[in-house]
Amino acid sequence: MSNARGEWSSSFGFIMAAAGSAVGLGNLWKFPYLAGQHGGAAFVLLYLVFMVVIGVTILLAEITLGRGMRRNGIEAFAKVSKRLSWIGAMGLLAAVMILSFYGVIGGWIARYFLQVFMGGVAGDPKAFFGEFISHPWYPVLFQIGFMVATAFIVIRGIAGGIERGNKIMMPGLLILLIILGVRSVTLPGAGAGIDFFLNPDFSKITPASIVAALGQVFFSLSLGVGCMLTYGSYLNRNSDLKRCALTIPSLDTAVAFLAGFAILPAVFAFGFEPSEGPGLMFVSLPAVFNQMPFGFLFFGLFFLLAFFAALTSSISLLEIPVSWLVDAHQWHRRKAVIVCTIVITLIGIPSCLSFGPALGGFTFFGKTFFELVDFMASNVLMPIGGFCLCIVVGYIWGIDKAVEEITSGGRFPFRLHTIWAVMLRYVSPAALVIIFLDAVGLLRFLK
Ligand code: PHE
Repeated sequence: MSNARGEWSSSFGFIMAAAGSAVGLGNLWKFPYLAGQHGGAAFVLLYLVFMVVIGVTILLAEITLGRGMRRNGIEAFAKVSKRLSWIGAMGLLAAVMILSFYGVIGGWIARYFLQVFMGGVAGDPKAFFGEFISHPWYPVLFQIGFMVATAFIVIRGIAGGIERGNKIMMPGLLILLIILGVRSVTLPGAGAGIDFFLNPDFSKITPASIVAALGQVFFSLSLGVGCMLTYGSYLNRNSDLKRCALTIPSLDTAVAFLAGFAILPAVFAFGFEPSEGPGLMFVSLPAVFNQMPFGFLFFGLFFLLAFFAALTSSISLLEIPVSWLVDAHQWHRRKAVIVCTIVITLIGIPSCLSFGPALGGFTFFGKTFFELVDFMASNVLMPIGGFCLCIVVGYIWGIDKAVEEITSGGRFPFRLHTIWAVMLRYVSPAALVIIFLDAVGLLRFLK
């Protein structure tokens, strides 16, 4: 970054940071377990359709609005119109909620990484996992550790280290996932898992799986919370926005698919339940590593890379409330980071304890605290944020200004701009409304 407000030195720097935010626990941990819970390939298909139709469209709108306004997630909306600042505030709330449980899973990753030094997970991985997450305070300790690591990086500013770290981490993660995937799909009995992952059973498509797939697209692309908008605001007019808006989802989807191949066939080969839920990766992968030569080295390397992938996402989440306190309320950066980290960690503790005896039996609307926070953020607030983006960019700021921004005043031709405009103004918002009405049962009621 250079100049006063800060600017990426190249589109590449931006793509690395944006991909760093996008690729994280959403791909490695959440995508495989959601696919496992929602019928496998049927979910994967929905995910792909939503990714292309809604994800790419809104990502381009979000980056474009950011660069056009040159403001962070909250102030950009206020700059379009004073009356719209609540959209940014809603995104900030979603980011805080996501980070609160992200830290919990980040802590699990850290815990598993440390296990390498104790010889990996021998014996029954399910029993090992169950024992860990039901401990009354051990997971909280790791959650705090993960949050402190996030805070430490955000205090020092994101540039430099993270940009450089990403360049090693990303290819490393891809290579390792390919190795793991190959091991997983060649396990005896893996065929049923490959079939489950790739051969859709359309009867598995339900309102719940549709809402889950849509939420996952938003979660995985870091959409609708002002994160991509803020990153886009540091781009200059020399970058081709539509290229960025295609590269990031491609990378993100590739990592999610590789994680699916590494995890789901192994679930079938070892006779675990695909609908296991948030623990899926933590029981399935140790079993795969135990079947590999030098398995525990791969085990260590994987959880180390997963830890970095989680960190590049968690810092982008913490940056949202921090940059708002710093820019709009003139807080000192260090103070903003410390206060936000403490508050968000505290909000996350009930999520952390949702897997153990302390709060595990406690449900609201049939969901544990963890599930409720995740659902409200990923499946409600993020899609609403995305809907608002469609309206703001498609109608209020306007397609003409957006296309002028995307093409940098005609420098980068955008031949598909009519299709994009139709997607942004009609298809995406209509799809979001229908999915929502269906989710709350209204459409079924009308039938
Ligand atoms: N996209 C991240 C992941 O898949 C999570 C995230 C959501 C990060 C929203 C920033 C904003 O892990």
